[in-house]
Amino acid sequence: MASPEVQEICQSLMLGEELMREVCDRMEEEINKGLGKDTNPEATVKCFPTYVRDLPNGKENGRFLALDLGGTNFRVLLIELGDKCSMDSRIYAVPQPIMIGPGDGLFDHIAECLASFIKERELGDEILPLGFTFSFPCKQEGLTKARLACWTKGFRCPGVEGNDVVELLKQAISRRGDVKIKICAVLNDTTGTLMSCAWKNHNCRIGLIVGTGTNACYMEKLEKVELWDEDRDNPPQVIINTEWGAFGDAGCLDFIRTEYDNNIDRESINPGRQLYEKMISGMYMGEIARQVLVHLVSQGLLFGGYTSDILLEKGSFFTKYISEIESDKVGDYNNCRNILEELGFNDATDADCANVRHVCTSVSRRAAYLAAAGVAVLLNRINEESVTVAVDGSVYRFHPHFHNLMVEQISHLIKPGIKFDLMLSEDGSGRGAALVAAVATRIAAKR
Ligand code: GLC
Repeated sequence: MASPEVQEICQSLMLGEELMREVCDRMEEEINKGLGKDTNPEATVKCFPTYVRDLPNGKENGRFLALDLGGTNFRVLLIELGDKCSMDSRIYAVPQPIMIGPGDGLFDHIAECLASFIKERELGDEILPLGFTFSFPCKQEGLTKARLACWTKGFRCPGVEGNDVVELLKQAISRRGDVKIKICAVLNDTTGTLMSCAWKNHNCRIGLIVGTGTNACYMEKLEKVELWDEDRDNPPQVIINTEWGAFGDAGCLDFIRTEYDNNIDRESINPGRQLYEKMISGMYMGEIARQVLVHLVSQGLLFGGYTSDILLEKGSFFTKYISEIESDKVGDYNNCRNILEELGFNDATDADCANVRHVCTSVSRRAAYLAAAGVAVLLNRINEESVTVAVDGSVYRFHPHFHNLMVEQISHLIKPGIKFDLMLSEDGSGRGAALVAAVATRIAAKR
């Protein structure tokens, strides 16, 4: 058990029922603002229509290429859709200087990786349809046109914001002149996740990511999307990319944000932005825990009041440590001790370990509850009897209790009578991209 003093300090990370309901009400308000024509310009939760209006019917087939940019890595994939889905992919690093260097450099890098993949797989003779999963906030102007609104998740390449990323990719490809492709769709990872799950699961209406960043998309009725100014029939629905990571950027989460959240925001590459994301996602969770630990040491409540140089370094407490520490069996602190040793604490006591674990559970529980609040709001909006939520992302995937914590909270927050399940969606960014491209081709042929 953590000490009473440590429990007291972690109390600021606890979200009781009343606070949770308040978070939901405010999220609902922000989504409505995002969808409203007049209110959208000031809205933080932008609710971008994705132009994806049909879900897959399970019969899609063909060969597709996909590009996946949105986290620490960049991937090129070759996907074959048929009765089953087979996939071949390669991961390429995106070096830090490219993440913050000029936009042309980033797109040249993407084009170069694509070219080398095509060469390696000897795909040069075919013009394959390509889906581009670009997981940043984009205002879409069509299925193949997406203007970057602002960078998130540690990227900051000048010259891209405000521009169409498909155009930038095409330019980079033509600068090389050695690759032929047909870009059929640009999409967000949440859309890919939804589509990938909907391929076989016909109740799927929500796509959720809790990974490096967090975001969700859902299928909305066009009558509720005032923002939409194209045709409203066949079908009268569209997937909305909420970009909920920016929830709170106008101050509406200040009632639950802590000094730790403020510190993280202040020291981030994008202060004042993505405040909900900064309380939930993998890019920040470890750092929140580190802030709390440093505070506890300074109060003499941990490690006898002595810190280590490593713990004082920003970013030294990785988010994966939280999953590892919480994976220790009750009463056993193996992972915890190993991690503390890596951080320079060689003689942590059992009491220290219990306190460290309490910090981790407090941080991850808050993250799961906050993500659950967002999902509950979407389920209540959709208001169907039974809805599957497709989920992906490293935090959801690897944290031992994230799924259960979310399910427990969502159940408290949804209207009676709604049933839901959270389903891990395998490889949405790849298969989802192929499916969006495939559905787009099918619709184009029909019209
Ligand atoms: C960030 C991006 C968003 C993406 C999410 C998950 O919030 O802005 O587009 O979906 O991370 O990768």
